[in-house]
Amino acid sequence: MVDFLGKSSIWSMTSNPSPEDKPLRSFGRTKGRPLSGRKQALVDSLLPKISIPVDGIVDPRALIPGKSEYNLEIGFGGGEHLTGQAITRSDAGFLGVEPFLNGVAKALGQIDDQGLSNVRLLEGDARDVMARMPDGCLDRIYLLFPDPWPKTRHAKRRLIQDETVAEFVRVLKLGGRLRVATDVKSYADHALFVLRQNLEFKWLAVGADDWRKPPTDHLTTRYETKKLGNCAPVFFEFKKI
Ligand SMILES: C[S@@+](CC[C@H](N)C(=O)[O-])C[C@H]1O[C@@H](n2cnc3c(N)ncnc32)[C@H](O)[C@@H]1O
Repeated sequence: MVDFLGKSSIWSMTSNPSPEDKPLRSFGRTKGRPLSGRKQALVDSLLPKISIPVDGIVDPRALIPGKSEYNLEIGFGGGEHLTGQAITRSDAGFLGVEPFLNGVAKALGQIDDQGLSNVRLLEGDARDVMARMPDGCLDRIYLLFPDPWPKTRHAKRRLIQDETVAEFVRVLKLGGRLRVATDVKSYADHALFVLRQNLEFKWLAVGADDWRKPPTDHLTTRYETKKLGNCAPVFFEFKKI
């Protein structure tokens, strides 16, 4: 297999990965209620047209040519933030990955209603997609209100782990940004601890307002409005240095 995506990529593996190499599942259910007729039709007709490829290289520039910036949203839920950003930033390309089919179908509804041409989606695991991305191909990664996995025995399922953070660093260009938001205190502590250990990431906060207040370009997510966590939302902005 060609090894041009970087040493940390799965493509540099010479043998088949053993089950232990597979990352633990970081998400809950992948299907909810049966889709409405319109949503099923969008999954059948629109999704194949705007899908991120299910295998092979994922190069944002090739998928959405001619944009000034490329963004990835991991776990976009119903796609409110992803499509909202895509509406306000028509000069930028947006890739979204979400394993929950009903969320993907909801985002497709927005993409269709708004006639968005700068969004590509995949129903799947963002870690698999990042592993197929070239080094330095992204300007920004959003990880907004990730599943908190609050029980100690489930903590390994959290998306923020050393290996995933190394992948964030690899796929971001120099100066690229990662935004993490959560309203779960233990996840905030965990995320900061793991992210700050990576010396290629710099936390941009100077004062408390930098993480207590939503960034000016933040769009409230559906999960955020549910206020299910145990603290006010916090926003961590990291820069690849
Ligand atoms: C708590 S929800 C938040 C959804 C959305 N970001 C919001 O704020 O409304 C976390 C989402 O992350 C998704 N997720 C978990 N692991 C993922 C992974 N490995 N790749 C992509 N999405 C993932 C889940 O399916 C779920 O929809």
